[in-house]
Amino acid sequence: MDTGGKCGYLMCGTFPQVHQVYLATNSVPDYFVNAEKVEQLDYGKIFPKTGEEEEEDSSTRHCRSRPSVRDLLTTKPEVAIMKMEDCGLPMADIVGKLKPLEVLSLVKQILIGFMVAEKAFEFEHRDLHMGNIMVKHTEKDTLKYMYVDKNIYLPSYNLQVKIIDTTFSRLKFKRKVYYRNLSHLFNEGEIDVEKNKKNPLSHQNQTYRAMASVIQHDWPSSYPRSNLLWCIYIIKKFLHSRAIRKDKQKYASSVRKLLSAYVSILVNMQTMHEFFSFIYQKPELNRYVPIKMEAIQFNG
Ligand SMILES: Nc1ncnc2c1ncn2[C@@H]1O[C@H](COP(=O)(O)OP(=O)(O)OP(=O)(O)O)[C@@H](O)[C@H]1O
Ligand SMILES: [Mg+2]
Repeated sequence: MDTGGKCGYLMCGTFPQVHQVYLATNSVPDYFVNAEKVEQLDYGKIFPKTGEEEEEDSSTRHCRSRPSVRDLLTTKPEVAIMKMEDCGLPMADIVGKLKPLEVLSLVKQILIGFMVAEKAFEFEHRDLHMGNIMVKHTEKDTLKYMYVDKNIYLPSYNLQVKIIDTTFSRLKFKRKVYYRNLSHLFNEGEIDVEKNKKNPLSHQNQTYRAMASVIQHDWPSSYPRSNLLWCIYIIKKFLHSRAIRKDKQKYASSVRKLLSAYVSILVNMQTMHEFFSFIYQKPELNRYVPIKMEAIQFNG
């Protein structure tokens, strides 16, 4: 992501490069239709219930009220295909093998990436689980970001985060808002987290609900706090991971304390910029894997 518009300079490598986008207008090849993954698509997400459908038992629900995925793929005339950068491996697969300072760098990469993306596109991911954060090797020891009039530098430990899967995301580009209405994913009353405290949920599901509670069906509007809720979820995942749970690893307890402090601060913030400004001003919150910042030098 690289923009130099009226917001000043904005650049980060936290999101994949998209090389090409194709629109396939013929029917989809058989290998897609037959793929196991396609057969297992979640019908509820593709075809939200309209409320006008008659009640059906679970055995007939899919085939009667909604078209099959096979029908959809063979009759729908247009499919978008994106050719994008190889983003490495899902965080979910490698988190147990990470070292504490690598974890801290990856967390900071996510936080800075969101700060830049919020400024550039009012971007909200709205589905930031460990399968949608990828990690790849980088030769660069230091990652560079640009934020308005500042260059930002961060040690990489030769790992780079790439955030994928914008299916649920929201952004604004050239005054047009792109978003997905997600209200159908929540049953009546679920959006009010206060009313649902008795219902024990996984933290991931709690995060969807907390996000919906902030957004309150207003999916087109900008709620940068949704990014903070997802970052809290991700940092807590790291806090429970083998990488920093045990003190045997050097820096484990220091990184654990720092990330716990980040969670407490994020809870009270509304935007990633607000969070970043807060931690950057306090040296004790920018230790071990320090973020460095300098003014961009404009030539001429
Ligand atoms: N650019 C990429 N580079 C490497 N692997 C990728 C890339 N994009 C997707 N993948 C792989 O494909 C998986 C699914 O991709 P993605 O999250 O975009 O689709 P999805 O069907 O919406 O998944 P889910 O519903 O599980 O979130 C990822 O978890 C990752 O393993
Ligand atoms: Mg995904």
